[in-house]
Amino acid sequence: KLLTVSILGLALAAGTTQARDYDHVRFGVDVPYEPMEYRTPEGELTGFDIELGNALCAEMGVTCEWIEQEWDGIVPGLMARNYDAIMSSMTINDERRQSLLFSDPYITMPGAWFAPAGSDLEEANEETLAGLSIGVQRGTTYDSYATDAFGSTANVNRYSTADDMMLDMEAQRLDIVFLEFAVGQSTLLDSDAGDFKVVGEMVTEPAEIFGEGFGIAFRQRDTALAERFNEALATLKEDGTYDEIYERYFGE
Ligand code: ARG
Repeated sequence: KLLTVSILGLALAAGTTQARDYDHVRFGVDVPYEPMEYRTPEGELTGFDIELGNALCAEMGVTCEWIEQEWDGIVPGLMARNYDAIMSSMTINDERRQSLLFSDPYITMPGAWFAPAGSDLEEANEETLAGLSIGVQRGTTYDSYATDAFGSTANVNRYSTADDMMLDMEAQRLDIVFLEFAVGQSTLLDSDAGDFKVVGEMVTEPAEIFGEGFGIAFRQRDTALAERFNEALATLKEDGTYDEIYERYFGE
């Protein structure tokens, strides 16, 4: 009897390790995070990740679908098979590699601190931030860093969505926010939300947290799928499609 049970167990385990061949890929994405993933005033989902993801799928000959999921549930959603991959400006770092498989990096992007233009902050460090209200998106690299470095000396406010954080920033309930430079630039600097400025230098360190660029994340056993994405990414970089999308969002 025991033997039958363990043989059955083995068979089941083998079944679940079998790699799937995808002809339809569902991406989990946390929206909005302009210019990476956001909706146009007409409600259309767009952004650098969305356009690159769609181009990768087209290159691979698969259809793809975008499933919205708030950041702090985005990895659990992948494990629960609500989607097959995460393409949502996710930073590749060693801690995440313990539970996720990443594609090659498809873009690198520094972080930055943003404060109201009238703020006298010129530097963001333990001294200057002491007692201030900091905003970060929960579960992000910015959350890990700020909570660790300033959690005991400042008030770190952790938001489920970048949008809620921006609303509190606009309403002057926060002294400073910490996130991707490009996202702060489009949401705060280039918007009519108010007058904001970058505080201090661009942030790329510590590399253990801010990592090696953004990657598409997969369940660890989906190695074949990750490989197909890597090949498609290399092709789009060669044939100019990648540059064309990049220029559209980050060109002058
Ligand atoms: N790059 C940061 C991280 O990986 C933040 C990403 C947040 N993405 C988003 N779509 N809200 O933790």
